Amino acid sequence: MAPPELDALGAAARALGRADLVVVATGAGMSRESGIPTFREALTGLWARFDPEEMATEQAFRRAPARVFGWYAWRRMVVRAAVPHAGYDAIVALERLLPEVLVVTQNVDGLHARAGSRRVVELHGSLERFRCLDAGHPYPADAVPEPATEGELAPPACPRCGAPIRPGVVWFGEVLPEREVALAWEAAARCAVMLVVGTSGLVQPAAALPRVARDAGAFVVEVNPEPSDVSPFATVVCRGSAGVVLPALVARMGGSA
Ligand code: OAD
Repeated sequence: MAPPELDALGAAARALGRADLVVVATGAGMSRESGIPTFREALTGLWARFDPEEMATEQAFRRAPARVFGWYAWRRMVVRAAVPHAGYDAIVALERLLPEVLVVTQNVDGLHARAGSRRVVELHGSLERFRCLDAGHPYPADAVPEPATEGELAPPACPRCGAPIRPGVVWFGEVLPEREVALAWEAAARCAVMLVVGTSGLVQPAAALPRVARDAGAFVVEVNPEPSDVSPFATVVCRGSAGVVLPALVARMGGSA
């Protein structure tokens, strides 16, 4: 009798091999092995004393624009230096092996596209997108300074209306982008397999996707070293890290990352 994790891996590999559409739903844990802290890990350095759920809000930005803008500019720096790990390459390999794969991510770090994934839906926006606070006028990311050190950074003013420039990410209390939500929910309701990787399943509405898939009859695979709010909706759970489990999955399918 193979150990449970091998059974889960084998069952997941078989389900993937039969799948017409696979949705890969990822959270912050997907980037952990690329050196990017998960959302709920303690913030480091200057930011350690702030609660990310408090910082990632329009209220915090209006109250302390330089602190919040500096935090995002610093995160963009960290992310730009990050390298997608083998788990990202495994997802790209799945895209080559299977008829249709859609990546739906809560992450704002852009690592899926950087790894070569071609169809990525960013539910929570991106650290590389900026717009003005009042009218939403787009602002070129290249015009946003890269901070020399961790610290406060005053946001630039919109050249069109003078409002402060804000990060193009979804803050707590804000709605998700309509087009991305429609794409994600349509795919979740149609997919044969949903691979849920590295999310605690705590933040709605993204956390609802595994249930949408399961209720529509999909085979749901969770990849996470810890139990999460996704686990009850998983058909199988591969208890392990993204950088180890995803390449092992592709290997079991006879592919290589
Ligand atoms: P969390 O920090 O809530 O959860 C990260 C999950 O990744 C946890 O379940 C960890 O056990 C798991 N994990 C850690 N290391 C891992 C690894 N190497 N491989 C696989 N999994 C690993 O992050 P999210 O669930 O993504 O949204 O949080 C969702 C949202 O919370 C974020 O997108 C953010 C915040 O609201 C916005 O900012 C709008």
